[in-house]
Amino acid sequence: MGRVEALKEDPVTHAAVSHPGRSSLFARLFPVLLVLALAGAAVWMALGDSLPSPAPVRLRPHLPDPAVLRETPLAVQIHLAAALGAFMLGLAQFALPKGTGLHRTLGWTWVLLIGAAAVSSLFIRYLNHGAFSLIHILSAWTLVVLPMAVYAVRRGDIRTHRNRMTGLFIGGLLIAGVLAVAPGRLMWRLFLGD
Ligand code: HEM
Repeated sequence: MGRVEALKEDPVTHAAVSHPGRSSLFARLFPVLLVLALAGAAVWMALGDSLPSPAPVRLRPHLPDPAVLRETPLAVQIHLAAALGAFMLGLAQFALPKGTGLHRTLGWTWVLLIGAAAVSSLFIRYLNHGAFSLIHILSAWTLVVLPMAVYAVRRGDIRTHRNRMTGLFIGGLLIAGVLAVAPGRLMWRLFLGD
């Protein structure tokens, strides 16, 4: 039986994948987001001295200075481009119909982008004096779960595919993205402070 047939025959997964209601999606994601936000806060506190001190923090929103970006290492530039691209594309994937040719094309592009974000992050270690930091667990997790999510859809397991991809978007992109604007880090300096 082909993959597309399997998709059509399973009324539960078909309904969930083809037309996920906005409210049900939100209801599903909210507890996950809450737990991850709490876990993120716990990790943040556990990091202690390995991150720049949050004080004194002076919020000063401003347009990004291109010179600051130019001065950052190549790995960071690649990482940022891939992560922001994956973020935008991920939002589009959630909104667009699933199972179409466009979904597959955008999906493979997303896989490349999030993969590039994870791999490039392995070369960014200056925040922890040249060593891996706790956030690198997200990178390793992404590199393990990403092929699993692709493999799931290749064998017609849409539910697992959807859960793994959603987990990667929230657990990887959103959490890492939120942590990336912490005071002292590049995104903070680019947009919010000194
Ligand atoms: C929109 C999403 C993301 C943004 C805006 C972002 C931004 C950044 C930036 C600018 C850096 C350079 C260090 C600095 O801030 O000064 C960085 C480092 C890093 N990023 Fe991301 N990133 C995102 C997503 C991801 C993802 C998806 C992963 C992993 C799968 C990841 C893992 C890391 C790691 C491990 C570091 C090194 C942090 C450290 O050594 O403490 N990031 N990120």
